[in-house]
Amino acid sequence: MALRPLIAGNWKMNLDRETAAGLARELAGAVAAAAAFEMAVCPPAPYLIPVADAIAGSPVGLGAQDCHAAANGAHTGDVAAPMLTDVGCTYVIVGHSERRADHGETDAVVRAKAEAARSVGLVPIVCVGETEAQRDAGETLDVVGRQVAGSIPDGLDGTTLVVAYEPVWAIGTGRTPTVDDVAAVHAHIRAALARKSADAAGIRILYGGSVKPSNASELLAVANVDGALVGGASLKAADFLAIARAV
Ligand code: G3H
Repeated sequence: MALRPLIAGNWKMNLDRETAAGLARELAGAVAAAAAFEMAVCPPAPYLIPVADAIAGSPVGLGAQDCHAAANGAHTGDVAAPMLTDVGCTYVIVGHSERRADHGETDAVVRAKAEAARSVGLVPIVCVGETEAQRDAGETLDVVGRQVAGSIPDGLDGTTLVVAYEPVWAIGTGRTPTVDDVAAVHAHIRAALARKSADAAGIRILYGGSVKPSNASELLAVANVDGALVGGASLKAADFLAIARAV
């Protein structure tokens, strides 16, 4: 991997205030600034501030799990991108398949969120990935290509956006694509990014979906895999650190 890999933990709707801060403190104490990887954690919104406090002064970055496309206004229950920078976020996940499925988020909505994030200096981690039915129908590359075309803003450079390829059928299931399949999809994403950006080679493309210590090194060694977006295994410091150290 030529780019410094990003190992991001998506804690989803898990943990409580104390366990979230404790996990963050443990990671902050274990990661050196000179590590070969960059680490970020994405706690539930109510725990962003205690986690920010827990990682203060460490190289561990903070990310949110979603943001609204508007900067403020009458959007009950939503969180705006400027609020996330205000509490210390560097990253925000947008377009996770759970948001696309649970909240009907379209590519256009995801793109608007990514643009809102970028406009305040937040780095969106834009998620794409096919369902099992789409995979079985041989549509993976088409689906992912369409999602990249529709969800990702034009004219970006590598420091302002991250892509995460997460096959929906691999999330939380213990199943992963073959390394050849991961390589094919990541190469396809890189080519699709090249139609949007002169700096496609500088954009990190993460793999997500059942990444664990036992498969991290083979997945992270695949061409065009520039890190991982980790769900379940990011909830235990030892497992998450083992994944990061597999880069
Ligand atoms: O955002 C993370 C992914 O949905 C992966 O979750 O590692 O639990 O499969 P998982």
